[in-house]
Amino acid sequence: MTPILMLGAGRMGGAMLAGWRKAGAFAASDLMIRDPNPGQAAAQLGAEGAQLNPADADLARARTVVLAVKPQLWREAAAETVSWLSEDAVIVSVAAGVKSADISREFGGRPVARVMPTTAAAIGQGTASLYADDPAALSRARALFEPLGAVVDLADENLMHAATAVSGSAPAYLYAFIEALEAAGVTAGLKPKDAAGLARSTITGAAALLAEGGEEPSELRRQVTSPGGTTQAALDVLLTEPSLQTLLREAVAAAVRRSKELGA
Ligand SMILES: NC(=O)c1ccc[n+]([C@@H]2O[C@H](COP(=O)([O-])OP(=O)(O)OC[C@H]3O[C@@H](n4cnc5c(N)ncnc54)[C@H](OP(=O)(O)O)[C@@H]3O)[C@@H](O)[C@H]2O)c1
Repeated sequence: MTPILMLGAGRMGGAMLAGWRKAGAFAASDLMIRDPNPGQAAAQLGAEGAQLNPADADLARARTVVLAVKPQLWREAAAETVSWLSEDAVIVSVAAGVKSADISREFGGRPVARVMPTTAAAIGQGTASLYADDPAALSRARALFEPLGAVVDLADENLMHAATAVSGSAPAYLYAFIEALEAAGVTAGLKPKDAAGLARSTITGAAALLAEGGEEPSELRRQVTSPGGTTQAALDVLLTEPSLQTLLREAVAAAVRRSKELGA
């Protein structure tokens, strides 16, 4: 499966490169990175032997091509590279919303796997939703993402929209929640530094407990909610319409709609 050619090493491509480097998943010499402005992870790997912005003729060495440019730029990236690639190169795309049939067409009919990853891949705690018609492309995608965290296979390409909304885009929902909790803490009288410290470490601790214990979130919620207590008072607000459930259902539906528009 190597050498791997990374097309685009921005936030997501850079996170994958950082995660592979941290995990020791691939030798730097097995990585080729194409990006007009390679970021820190690419530069580190470049110093360790990865090929940065290889010449066109060298692209024929790549066995796996990771498409990690913005969805608006993917056709341009494909057009620049397709004629140089080897016939047996496999394409793994992380571009939100872009269908595998369209990618395969622009890449000369080569097999394609689609992945919706998260940037926590940089620290080996990513989550990747995978889909491919072609079993070889699917196992190629799995080999790229297993060193970067959790991997979930999707049965149908259409589910990629839902996976994007519930996973790819979801770290931003959580960050927005933490920002809001911090602001509410300040309104309740805490110093900004204390509100930030309390909100952040409480949330990372609660997430770690969920990850470690194997208990359902609903059970963990019950364990910290005494009837008639302070937590119950706050939850009564969060669960009154428009409740957290309603807001998240609408947010996920909006992300699904946008994912479909990007792929149209
Ligand atoms: N960020 C996330 O959390 C996330 C999560 C899941 C999936 N994704 C997907 O990952 C893809 C990349 O997103 P991103 O957030 O990483 O975007 P980004 O930070 O803008 O990174 C894309 C990189 O590609 C470079 N680039 C542009 N045109 C290129 C070309 N023709 N050949 C090679 N490199 C080129 C860009 O350089 P310039 O800046 O100079 O244009 C940039 O460094 C998107 O398709 C997105 O849907 C992102």
